Amino acid sequence: MFGLSRVSVWNILEKLRESGLHLEGIRNKGYRLGRDPDRLHPALIAAMLELETDNSPVGLYGAQTIDSTHSAAERLLAEGVKTPFVVIAAEQSHGRGRLGRVWHSPDAGNLYMTAVFRPDLPPGRMQRFTLWMGLRVCEWLNRIHKVPAVLKWPNDLLHSGRKLSGMLTEARIDADHMRELLFGIGINVNADTAAWPPDLASRAVSMREVAARAFELNRLAASLVATLLCAYRGFVDGSFNRNFDQLWQRYDAIGANPVGLTTRQGRIEGTVLGLADDGGLKLRLRDGSTQTFHSGDVSINSAMVDNRY
Ligand code: BTN
Repeated sequence: MFGLSRVSVWNILEKLRESGLHLEGIRNKGYRLGRDPDRLHPALIAAMLELETDNSPVGLYGAQTIDSTHSAAERLLAEGVKTPFVVIAAEQSHGRGRLGRVWHSPDAGNLYMTAVFRPDLPPGRMQRFTLWMGLRVCEWLNRIHKVPAVLKWPNDLLHSGRKLSGMLTEARIDADHMRELLFGIGINVNADTAAWPPDLASRAVSMREVAARAFELNRLAASLVATLLCAYRGFVDGSFNRNFDQLWQRYDAIGANPVGLTTRQGRIEGTVLGLADDGGLKLRLRDGSTQTFHSGDVSINSAMVDNRY
């Protein structure tokens, strides 16, 4: 049909096989995709994404192993690559976490990705961005994949108090303008977290462990990218405002409870009063005063989180 010789078709099929696709011949018909590929396959993700998003234009860059999808995204930006684009990997040698920490990123059937946008917005408009993206990922996990998850301010997705996913947002800002926005997310998908170093194993969980089934990484990646693109669009056009509070009520892990907040300045005890307009966490402190915090690690009683799911 495409005017290709048998040899050309054979060569193309060999290349596809080398890239990790399992192709099965069907007599008198042609070939079809057999079992799911074992590895991340960017072209396959792109094809699945076209089906999910009505072909919305997004660049996809994938690698089985990379230093960090965030660092790779920065390099692509420096090369002048057009936004939006997404970098996906199955393993990171230097995964970056919040507050300069390392994000444990083994090749264990997990997903690591960074989506890059150029929002034409003043920086002040971005305050609830990470929370909004987290709420939409919670919705995706709960509704589509039946993996119960809640959002712990400011950037953790938890199941039964254990970390399922972490998010990292970085922005480059001019005086009054947002230049580039990098949204990174790591999700424990198929990992056997019990095999991880003990301090991580006791705090982490994977989708497979929760759902008692494995997830196909390429399909999952396409569906997550589609969700992130849709969430981003809703954020930029302001329509997220209509749903934010409802999703916050549904997925907020902390509630109006006593918490400890560890900041660079030390640990503070307080009771949560709610979310400030700028996305900060409002606490009533022991001396009765009210203060809003914009970063830190919240510790909550895990029994409380279990109560929610
Ligand atoms: C955290 O909880 O500290 C945030 C972790 C964010 C990890 C993701 S994985 C994909 C992206 N690339 C990175 O190097 N980090 C983020």
